[in-house]
Amino acid sequence: MKPTTLRVTAILTGYLSLAIASPAQLSDKCYYDPLPNIPASTANRTIPWGEPTITFANGTTCCSSLDQVRTELDAIDAQLLQVLSQRAAYVAEATRFKATLDSVDVPSRDQQVIQGAIEGAPAVHLPQIIAKIVYEGILNASIYFEDCIVRPFFFVCNGVLSDKNTV
Ligand SMILES: *[C@@H]1O[C@H](CO)[C@@H](O)[C@H](O)[C@H]1NC(C)=O
Ligand SMILES: *[C@@H]1O[C@H](CO)[C@@H](O)[C@H](O)[C@H]1NC(C)=O
Ligand SMILES: *[C@@H]1O[C@H](CO)[C@@H](O)[C@H](O)[C@H]1NC(C)=O
Repeated sequence: MKPTTLRVTAILTGYLSLAIASPAQLSDKCYYDPLPNIPASTANRTIPWGEPTITFANGTTCCSSLDQVRTELDAIDAQLLQVLSQRAAYVAEATRFKATLDSVDVPSRDQQVIQGAIEGAPAVHLPQIIAKIVYEGILNASIYFEDCIVRPFFFVCNGVLSDKNTV
């Protein structure tokens, strides 16, 4: 090899190892909320870039195509539906212990659950921003669901049915 070629190879190798190492460090920061202000990369990438980031229990890595990624996501989403169904059942159960309409939603308890998810996220390697927004969504949805369950009960029991609340 000519010295020039060697130097170019060395520069390229240095550039490549930097290109691989640096996004990994940045994405680590993306696991925390608030998110860091990361400037957009100007590097031209051929896809897929980087190395597969997931290792299955049998030692094989994932993923080798976007289709494979989506297949795995679909399987996890199906599990999430089941877990959310179980959670909703307990949300319904909780309403049995609420004596008044006003006591059904407890905002301080909602905040406690959301904060617990945010604080517990790093231990299970979950981005805090996902924990925060998903739990806010779950709690928000649960408030509607609880309201749907208890409203007819309280209105019927209290004999104060109104047109507004019978839709
Ligand atoms: C990326 O591609 C564009 C368009 O081909 C080119 O102008 C630019 O210099 C490239 N940037 C790098 C960092 O290679
Ligand atoms: C390893 O496990 C993954 C995920 O369960 C599976 O999709 C894949 O087929 C397995 N590979 C081998 C070689 O067993
Ligand atoms: C949850 O509801 C609160 C209050 O209405 C709202 O500020 C927040 O954006 C909602 N979050 C989600 C994820 O739905």
